[in-house]
Amino acid sequence: MKGVVLAGGTGSRLRPITFSMAKQLVTVANKPILHYGLEDLAEAGITEVGIVISPQTGDEVRAAVGDGSTLGISPTFIVQDEPLGLAHALKTALPFVDGDDCLMYLGDNLVKDGVRDVVTDFQEHRPNCQIMLSPVPNPESFGVADVDADGQIIRLVEKPTVPPSDLALVGVYLFDASIVDAVDAIRPSARGELEITDAIQHLIDTKRTVRASIVKDWWKDTGTKDDLLHAQALVISELAHNIDGEVIDTRIRGSVHVGEGSRIVDSDITGPAVIGDGVTLN
Ligand code: DAU
Repeated sequence: MKGVVLAGGTGSRLRPITFSMAKQLVTVANKPILHYGLEDLAEAGITEVGIVISPQTGDEVRAAVGDGSTLGISPTFIVQDEPLGLAHALKTALPFVDGDDCLMYLGDNLVKDGVRDVVTDFQEHRPNCQIMLSPVPNPESFGVADVDADGQIIRLVEKPTVPPSDLALVGVYLFDASIVDAVDAIRPSARGELEITDAIQHLIDTKRTVRASIVKDWWKDTGTKDDLLHAQALVISELAHNIDGEVIDTRIRGSVHVGEGSRIVDSDITGPAVIGDGVTLN
């Protein structure tokens, strides 16, 4: 199975932060969001990863990933000339996928439990497509699944004004080669994008098997400022207390991470907090 990670787009909802950087490179607990997804793929045994980048921020993404060795993956960078939608981004990456199964991961998503279990589930059941769902308080901001009493998907709809349920599509999708025809068959949505939600709906309409699982722990789309702050709180609060640097005459309460080569003098730190490598506080 190959990985396709989407790190293009415009990041317009995260301005002004994204005036100066790619949204997937914004850090959560001192680590670019993109790195969490790439590490999830490596952990699931997916090492061949196509990373879709934009002409505007692609070089930054290339620099942040490098040869991928520290993340456990081997990257291929794929330029998407224009941000014409998630299905368009996947279409751009199809020559890289080359008929294999693929896992598409949105580069601004964070999934607490990673993707190992969903990959195993896909490989055991061999549906044409597997999606992950998570209940959210604001389903109108996401792709939403309409499911029947047995948990079978009836319909998927992108950012509906009247959501049929509170089950949002998580930004992790597994496909076999039947997605190739589906992304070809769909037309741009009202917002002018080729929606992956519509491509999966096409699979449903053409009687392909689409399997869904509910994510057990938290999942975050970091597309807005509030989501990003919430993601920071979730990730930092789960970091183990770990002091690698030097701490002198300092009171530390709660879970605090102090990076290597840091020197904290005469300070008072209340966790959850992360202090990176090589920081001096006094
Ligand atoms: O996060 C989950 C949601 O992601 C799903 O519930 C929705 O169904 C799905 O459409 C998507 O919605 P968003 O509006 O949040 O997608 P966004 O435009 O933020 O793009 C997601 C990632 O893909 C982001 O890292 C940017 C990248 N991207 C986006 C577009 C439109 C590309 O690489 N190329 C593109 O053309």
